[in-house]
Amino acid sequence: MKNYKVAVVGATGLVGSTFLKLLWEYKFPIETLTLFASERSAGKKVAFGDKEYTVQKLEEGCFDGIEIALFSAGGSVSQKWAPEAEKSGAVVIDNSSAWRMVQECALIVPEINLAHFDSARKIVANPNCSTIQSVLPLKPLEDKFGLKRVVYTTYQAVSGSGMKGKNDLARTLAGEEPEFYPYNIAKTCIPQIDVFTDNGYTKEELKMVNETRKILGKPDLKVSATCVRVPVMNAHAVSIMVELEKPFTLEEVRKAFEGQDGIKVLDDPQNSIYPVSTVANDNDLVYVGRIRRDLSCDNGLLFYCVSDNIRKGAAANAIQIAQALIKAEKI
Ligand code: A2P
Repeated sequence: MKNYKVAVVGATGLVGSTFLKLLWEYKFPIETLTLFASERSAGKKVAFGDKEYTVQKLEEGCFDGIEIALFSAGGSVSQKWAPEAEKSGAVVIDNSSAWRMVQECALIVPEINLAHFDSARKIVANPNCSTIQSVLPLKPLEDKFGLKRVVYTTYQAVSGSGMKGKNDLARTLAGEEPEFYPYNIAKTCIPQIDVFTDNGYTKEELKMVNETRKILGKPDLKVSATCVRVPVMNAHAVSIMVELEKPFTLEEVRKAFEGQDGIKVLDDPQNSIYPVSTVANDNDLVYVGRIRRDLSCDNGLLFYCVSDNIRKGAAANAIQIAQALIKAEKI
């Protein structure tokens, strides 16, 4: 089996360090590993397995020879440097939102739409965290019953804001004043993630709308979202209401979820079995439960899903894209 020359951009960050952890955990076939972060971190040593690697800064020619580049260093770094890596011949898997809605760049959840990859454009975008865990259960519903309308309400953990978010929850739990969020996250939910746009939705909410349509290949799907930051350290939850085209039984829906790779159904409410955030920590599954009929429309369904937003919502999905492209002989 071939080994690959791999680069990680943003290697000192929360998602970047999870890339390293998972590359090791998954035994990813690595020939060489090159780590990049900002100039501030250049020269710093980072452990990978039993070796130490020196962090480098991004500069002209730094991607020469790289075959797979995993980016998680923010949108502006991806905007500038992903095309450089692509020009050097690397397949880029980018965790920022910079390339997600660029038409020629595939936006991939590997269990759903690997076929969207086109080797003419080697920057592949990793979707928004809440979107990844939502489209996984939506896909079998689309295939079996057809999706007519989707309404999301999210309960997003502070790790989604990187170290700054985790530190602000720890700080406010210890009784100190917030420094990052606009309100005390230890004491309240905050119905704002990212900045507001002119139509009253936040950018995070519009990412969920637009990315859902692109991944499922349904540009006209009716989708709405409300995204809320909650005082949970890790693992996002999403309550999803769907209106389906065809009638369904709850048993059929449960079977559809159970048949989807990457999903585990936890749904025995009488025994208090349903997905809670802690069950998702440090693994790659999307947990689905609270499956019931929506009482407000015909063919309406409600369910709830949780997933580790740093793993399946970011680093794991990105590496799984690379693994799937290798398996499909596209890299
Ligand atoms: P650094 O640690 O040197 O600032 P997080 O999302 O957890 O905040 O991590 C962001 C990651 O992106 C870090 O590894 C950070 O490096 C990296 N980064 C930030 N700005 C740049 C830049 N201009 N060039 C390369 N890497 C960057």
